[in-house]
Amino acid sequence: MSEEPAWIAVAAVDDVAPGATLEVVAGDAIVALANVDGEIYALDGICAHQGGPLGKGKLVGCTLTCPWHGWQYDVTTGRQMLSDTIRQSRYQLRIERDTILVRLSDV
Ligand code: FES
Repeated sequence: MSEEPAWIAVAAVDDVAPGATLEVVAGDAIVALANVDGEIYALDGICAHQGGPLGKGKLVGCTLTCPWHGWQYDVTTGRQMLSDTIRQSRYQLRIERDTILVRLSDV
C-alpha cells in the first residue's frame, strides 16, 4: 500500500485574497492557488499547453486564464474549458489556523 503524500504548508491565507491567484512551490511541484469568493483551490501550476505559470494567471469567477496563450481552466474541476479530455490535476487543500496546506494527491 502506498503512503499518502504529506501535507505541505505553502502560503498564508492572506497571501491569496478572493479573486486572486498565487504561484507556490510544494515539494518539487509548482502549484497554482486560486481564491474563488473565499474558497481556495490548488491545482497543477504548469499549464498543459506549453508549461505556462497558471499561478500567475488571471482569475474571473472560477475561470483561470493562463498568462502565456490564454488557455482557460475551471479551477473547481481542473478542466480546460474547451476540451473534454484536458484536465489539470487538482490537489487536496486544507487550512490550519492561517496557513494553507496542500497535499500532492489528485482530488
Ligand atoms: S502555456 Fe498556457 S496557454 Fe500556452
